[in-house]
Amino acid sequence: MPVELHVNVDHVATLRQARGTKYPDPVHAAIQCELAGAHGITVHLREDRRHIQDRDVRVLREVVTTRLNLEMAATEEMLRIALETAPDLVTLVPEKREEQTTEGGLDVVAHQKSLKPLIAALLEANIPTSLFVDPDARQIDAAVALGAATVELHTGDYANAQGGALEKELQRLADAAEHAEGHPLIVAAGHGLTVRNLADLLVEAPPIAELNIGHALVSDAVFYGLEGAVQRFLDAIADGEAE
Ligand code: PXP
Repeated sequence: MPVELHVNVDHVATLRQARGTKYPDPVHAAIQCELAGAHGITVHLREDRRHIQDRDVRVLREVVTTRLNLEMAATEEMLRIALETAPDLVTLVPEKREEQTTEGGLDVVAHQKSLKPLIAALLEANIPTSLFVDPDARQIDAAVALGAATVELHTGDYANAQGGALEKELQRLADAAEHAEGHPLIVAAGHGLTVRNLADLLVEAPPIAELNIGHALVSDAVFYGLEGAVQRFLDAIADGEAE
């Protein structure tokens, strides 16, 4: 099975919100990504609605034919929206209002008690849950205990690392992916991934089956078009798998 590319189209909405226009529409972008070969579409409905809007999630639910992954904070409001829109997957992420982007994984160990009923409510509605976690065996074990279908390993520290730290972060991800593989879990990864850094990740951490990529892909679309950008990432994935 090829490693899947799931495109996060949040930053198409960022551009739209910058002017309060109707364009560019993340729905249009999602369709183009699917036509270009992406395996799924991801959006993060933030509590402050800085990019993706409620309407986007509703319309995406109507038009996405691959897989719609709704990233959200573990709150009552977001649970209600998830149950109403029924995405194919919900990814629970930590959220801080002042942050530029998600800064780290969810502390599943510390929040087990509050996460449990939320994940159970999603499961009852046949919506599997993914937990976005730091590459740490304890977090993965806690995710398994809560019934998560997927763990998404946070690759932000790897993406930001340089020199010796890069090897260390890659090893952390490799160890975590291997640990997760021992459980009935799909192993995903994301944050800060680019056409340059993803091949090494796939070589060192082969259990990774899905990548969630947003900022670098939407940025590449400025130069290569969205179809060209998706193709570049699919090619980079194929290169990583061939190595
Ligand atoms: N995965 C998760 C859980 C995220 O929160 C984000 C950012 O919204 C991504 C992946 C994508 O990260 P990036 O935009 O850096 O590719």
